[in-house]
Amino acid sequence: MDKLIDPFARPISYLRVSVTDRCDFRCVYCMSENMTFLPKKELLTLEELDRLCSTFVGLGVEKLRITGGEPLVRREIMTFFNAMTRHLDSGALKELTLTTNGSQLEKFAQPLWDAGVRRVNISLDTLDEQKFADITRWGRLPQVLRGIDAAQAAGMRVKLNAVALKGFNEPELFSMTEWCAKRDIDLTWIEVMPMGDIGNEDRLGQYWKLTDLRDRLAEQYTLTDLPESTGGPARYVRLEETGQKVGFITPLSHNFCESCNRVRLTCTGDLFMCLGQEDRADLRSALRNHPDSDAPLEQAIRKAISMKPEGHDFDYSRQSVDGRVSRHMSHTGG
Ligand code: GTP
Ligand code: 5AD
Ligand code: SF4
Repeated sequence: MDKLIDPFARPISYLRVSVTDRCDFRCVYCMSENMTFLPKKELLTLEELDRLCSTFVGLGVEKLRITGGEPLVRREIMTFFNAMTRHLDSGALKELTLTTNGSQLEKFAQPLWDAGVRRVNISLDTLDEQKFADITRWGRLPQVLRGIDAAQAAGMRVKLNAVALKGFNEPELFSMTEWCAKRDIDLTWIEVMPMGDIGNEDRLGQYWKLTDLRDRLAEQYTLTDLPESTGGPARYVRLEETGQKVGFITPLSHNFCESCNRVRLTCTGDLFMCLGQEDRADLRSALRNHPDSDAPLEQAIRKAISMKPEGHDFDYSRQSVDGRVSRHMSHTGG
């Protein structure tokens, strides 16, 4: 079976799957307060998600990351995780993981571990209860902290994703770093991207360049660049004083598209070939019109990969927000 290779000779081995567009939070940089969500009948069923993901695994995808919205608010989601375990057992899949806001982890950490999830990325931008309530609108910090505890107690490696926001979590750079060191948690900072009409737009004002964040870290710690990658876009350093890992996801200040290995499937069966472009392919038709054969689906996937764009066009450098995409981050799961 020929593996999936895009027009820029990049092998595609990482599939991110958004299993719902819904979320129990309303993070201000991600969603507007009044979001309209998809009617349930538009969603792929869990069986359809299984068939799609399994087809990708058959085509060489080795890393599967389940996202949302908030993936753990999708009904019966463990049925899907449990179904994917067979690809870990066969060795075809190297990693089954998820990105979550942590709100439901207290309940799901152990079943996820049992399904083969060994690592979880949790979105957490601040450790201040009031600020957390402000930025997530609907979230409460203690619930997420209990989720983190549950994930660690189950044995999972935890990584926090924090969107770097000027004037918001800037003062917490060192306190968050220390908190993570104490708990043996990795921390990754993300530059805020211009996605979705969120009604409270001030991307430029919020943008905290990670080169600046890194320089500030270097004033207190000795940073050693690490060559390793998790197959995701983050580049890591080790803080020698604590031994902890800190990652940087820098779509704005340092584009990493040349090494892109991933595509994104939405909960309606659209494949987005790039987070920062509008190009997409409808895989749901190939799936539903051919219930007895995966060949048309495979063909549709190959065709989609052959149209993967070179990269995003996000750009704040002209003191304006360029390259924005209209869909919300929750649509494609980041
Ligand atoms: P690891 O497996 O831990 O490396 O995770 P990951 O970084 O691949 O996944 P995660 O869901 O933690 O991604 C963090 C964030 O990075 C996403 O939510 C996006 O905001 C951003 N990101 C991931 N992939 C891309 C990409 O291809 N382009 C851009 N611009 N941003 C991305
Ligand atoms: N820019 C950068 N990251 C974002 N996320 C959501 N919206 C944005 C944005 N506009 C992050 C979340 C989460 C991941 C899924 O994407 O904080 O970590
Ligand atoms: Fe929900 Fe994640 Fe978006 Fe926050 S960033 S509203 S937790 S999908």
